[in-house]
Amino acid sequence: MIRSLLLVFVLFAAIGSARAQSLEIADRGTTKTYTAAQLLANKAMRTLQIVDPVYKRPMSYRVLAMADLLSDLKIGNDDYVQARAVDNFSVAIPAALLKADAFLAIESPTVPWPKLPGGSNTTAGPFYIVWQHRPGTDISSEYWAYHLAALTVTDSPAKRWPGLAVGAEVPATDRIHRGLDRFVAVCMACHRFAGAGEGTQGPDLARPMNPVDYFQPAALRKLLRDPKSVRDWPEQKMPAFGEESLSDTDIDAIMAWLAYKAGKR
Ligand code: HEC
Repeated sequence: MIRSLLLVFVLFAAIGSARAQSLEIADRGTTKTYTAAQLLANKAMRTLQIVDPVYKRPMSYRVLAMADLLSDLKIGNDDYVQARAVDNFSVAIPAALLKADAFLAIESPTVPWPKLPGGSNTTAGPFYIVWQHRPGTDISSEYWAYHLAALTVTDSPAKRWPGLAVGAEVPATDRIHRGLDRFVAVCMACHRFAGAGEGTQGPDLARPMNPVDYFQPAALRKLLRDPKSVRDWPEQKMPAFGEESLSDTDIDAIMAWLAYKAGKR
């Protein structure tokens, strides 16, 4: 009896894990863990109204500025912050950008947010990175990381994963460079490349094969704009990228970088 009760408990714990119970914040020396209640009690909490691209409508949140949240951490000028969600989504954000323009939105257990659009049965909470950006700054749609579980100060992706780099023979003006930037900011939240990266929601895009080796360019372009226009099944997770999050120029640049890495240029 006790064993079966224990099993029920473990099962519930596993189901509940789609929501982070606490947020872990770490630099290279220390790790701190906060619950939503602890953060909501912070005196620097305030209300922020924004147009939210995840909920696709204006939203009002209780937030803490990232500059306040991360103020005790040791962060170098070129450092990144790896933002990891409970579902293996993991995006590297330049630390300086995060501190300048981002907020941590915290969901109160008593005033829950709406469910995410698209038939989801969860909200974006309890921890969610939201942005109020200055005109002209480039905030990747992947930087709006919800179901957040951890923020960890790390080296830049270029330093951590030199295998992604573009060689010195490629002129600085070549779109291959932009392709790498966009790949790191958008695609690596879910995909690794030849083992490099932390995202594991989608397949590695170099091993065993690079998509440019088996997709016709026009089909790959369509897949990136709207995966369901190429293949469609209920469990499909890859999001469609609209013009506002990935321009045609970005898609061409990413494809150029993938082709470069496959030795096709
Ligand atoms: C939010 C997570 C996520 C992001 C961001 C994402 N993908 Fe995916 N991708 C997936 C998942 C998951 C799959 C596996 C199929 C599925 O479930 O949709 C996939 C499948 C693919 C495939 C098809 C592989 C195959 O052989 O069928 C390609 C190519 C691909 N992604 C490229 C990209 C590129 C390039 C980007 C950046 C522009 C990107 N993805 C961004 C999650 C993501």
